[in-house]
Amino acid sequence: MTSQGTFYIRTYGCQMNVHDSDKLANLLHHTGFSRAEDDAEADLLVINTCSIRDKAENQLYSDLGKLREWKEERPGRFLGVGGCVAQQVGDGILSRFSHVDFVFGTHNLRWVPAMLDSARQGQRRGDTKEIRSLDRFDLPQKHTLFESVTPGRAFLTVMEGCDMFCSFCIVPRTRGREISRPAEAILAEARELAQRGVREVTLLGQTVNAYGRHDLGRGRSQQAGTMAFGELLRHLDEIPGIDRIRYTSPHPLFFDEALIEAHAGLESVCPHVHLPLQSGSDLILKKMRRRYGRDRYLEIVDELREAVPSIAITTDVIVGFPGESEADFEDTLDLMKQAEFVDSFSFKYSPRPETAAADLTDQVDPKTSQDRLERLQNVQRGLTLAHHRSRVGEKVEVLIEGPSRRGGGQLRGRDRHHRLVNLLAEDPPSPSPPRSGDLVEVDLVEATPHSLIAKRSSAQQLSRAENPRGKAEPLRI
Ligand code: SAH
Ligand code: SF4
Ligand code: F3S
Repeated sequence: MTSQGTFYIRTYGCQMNVHDSDKLANLLHHTGFSRAEDDAEADLLVINTCSIRDKAENQLYSDLGKLREWKEERPGRFLGVGGCVAQQVGDGILSRFSHVDFVFGTHNLRWVPAMLDSARQGQRRGDTKEIRSLDRFDLPQKHTLFESVTPGRAFLTVMEGCDMFCSFCIVPRTRGREISRPAEAILAEARELAQRGVREVTLLGQTVNAYGRHDLGRGRSQQAGTMAFGELLRHLDEIPGIDRIRYTSPHPLFFDEALIEAHAGLESVCPHVHLPLQSGSDLILKKMRRRYGRDRYLEIVDELREAVPSIAITTDVIVGFPGESEADFEDTLDLMKQAEFVDSFSFKYSPRPETAAADLTDQVDPKTSQDRLERLQNVQRGLTLAHHRSRVGEKVEVLIEGPSRRGGGQLRGRDRHHRLVNLLAEDPPSPSPPRSGDLVEVDLVEATPHSLIAKRSSAQQLSRAENPRGKAEPLRI
């Protein structure tokens, strides 16, 4: 195939977007493109956008402003915009930014090559139609040029879309209606990943544990080839080579017995759950339309702890939702301490277009929201450090991701609880140092607020990754 030039993809937002960018990269390889190291070098630049808060959306407009020059610098360059802002704003991006060549929505990845052809003929296109069939998951097999940026790990979509319509959230508008893939397609993809040397899969879905629920509710699971999420985990656990299964993000409403049992009984299901809370106040949860209260949330935490005593629970919290009083906020802090969250992502509420909460008048003033965010993050720092300190002395398995930000020849990886572990350099250096994608056994020797520090155990490496990048040098430690 003749070379079409080089591409670069800028990705914002959640794991689903990261995964979509990978799918697009693979598609572009099939079209004859190769990957550029950065946008300065690229002939085609695609921005995969996020719309979750206004700051994320504004990032796109700021990027596009700066990219006029990039486009004019070299004739024959193309600029595309995809993802959640594209889905939300659609053709509006084409009319506002004349240097954008094409816009594609979250269901239209596979039309990118055709849109590029049109762009070459001077036709600017936007395609943000919602596709309610499974066709959109039919993408080509991995191209030989496709290089995983996460050796040993992979994302695997099980469902997409969201029908929950929480009052603050734009995702149901940007990702469309819930749709679950047939289990057989998911399992086949997992087997293929295992064959490629993947040890850890992260199952993706906007409400991942709602997998198959609509089919079940309509009595058509068999026709659709779906099943309960807990059962899907059981099948995935049986695949040889997959040592770690994670999933994100579950919704508390769909935490059932089968899922708790999967944690208790399946070896490859990791002892970590990211369980978004949003607020610890019943009143605010109701206004958020979350469909659970603080008691039910804490009940799930207890059930998980009973099933796996060491389980690490992390969460998402929003502060300053309209009408949030000091007492509501204190309920959140109180719940965080009760649940002993190991980590949390916390955000100031940001009104989003066409969401129910955007019309609420009792907005919290920005100074109060900022103050609450800082207080919450302070509480979390204490909880995280306490957890890390409780882990020192443990022997754990780490999946190596790459060099540590701490430098000094240290490596970075994650333990089964999804904690960041920095592995000290060996002295003298090992003749066979671990590489990205390897599973190694380490001793936790020190706790910091952000990570655990470890030394390599005398025990040997647990498993060596195939080197998916081929050319990568072994990492020195
Ligand atoms: N599906 C997940 C959430 C995905 S969005 C769930 O149901 O919990 C990731 C996080 O962004 C949310 O958990 C929430 O904490 C935050 N978020 C979503 N909309 C937001 C908004 N309008 N303002 C501030 N934070 C928001
Ligand atoms: Fe948004 Fe709620 Fe759906 Fe999560 S469950 S994606 S917060 S609407
Ligand atoms: Fe952002 Fe869309 Fe994900 S809004 S968080 S990229 S689903």
